[in-house]
Amino acid sequence: MFTNHLPAHVSGQDQLIWKILFDRQTALLHRRAAPAFSQGLARLGLRREAIPDLGELSTTVFEETGWRLAPVGRPFEPAAFFELLAERRFPIVTRIRPMHAFDFSPQPDLFHDLFGHVPMLLDSGLADFLHMLGQAYRAQPEGSPAREQLWALYFFTAEFGLVQHEGQPRLYGAGLLSSAGEIHHCVNENTPRIAFDLATVLRTPVTGARYQQQYYVLPAWEQLTDCVAELAGLLAVA
Ligand SMILES: [Fe+2]
Repeated sequence: MFTNHLPAHVSGQDQLIWKILFDRQTALLHRRAAPAFSQGLARLGLRREAIPDLGELSTTVFEETGWRLAPVGRPFEPAAFFELLAERRFPIVTRIRPMHAFDFSPQPDLFHDLFGHVPMLLDSGLADFLHMLGQAYRAQPEGSPAREQLWALYFFTAEFGLVQHEGQPRLYGAGLLSSAGEIHHCVNENTPRIAFDLATVLRTPVTGARYQQQYYVLPAWEQLTDCVAELAGLLAVA
């Protein structure tokens, strides 16, 4: 199921795509990213010059948080994905997007996973939240409404979430952090950015739209972990 470290197929063009994406996203995210992302990026030592070795990066993440990175050849279906989260492992797609998908990659790719997700894994609040989601998903029957709700909660937090920081909404979802197109759409004054409410998020359908129709903004970072306590009572009844 898993490949080893960085695949042999990483080419010079892949390295160039990484470098250009890294430069553009770090510039775009200045004063737009949540503090947890900026801190995680610095602690990991991710650099524009080279795609990091996944084995070494996984060791660093494990020493910091107890999570491991699981290199995979393609994105997982939700059930397999949440199973990994329940084991404190995060799948990393080992192929980087092609040049023509620079602004928006419809499927997770190496840049989305490494740049968008891994720095956030160093935040213990988000890391524990993801672990809890994995365990909760595993505990629900296959095909149940509760699993759909947990997928929506993951989607509108870890993928497309924002959090208030010093009076401004800051980005922490990997789908935002890794996509210039999604960032421009999200910060547009006409795009709805709604205060996070757990019951509302649980009943928001996940669509295949190119960009999200609305985004949810945590009033404070602590609310991500605080909502875990009320989750069990709301699942499948929201
Ligand atoms: Fe993702």
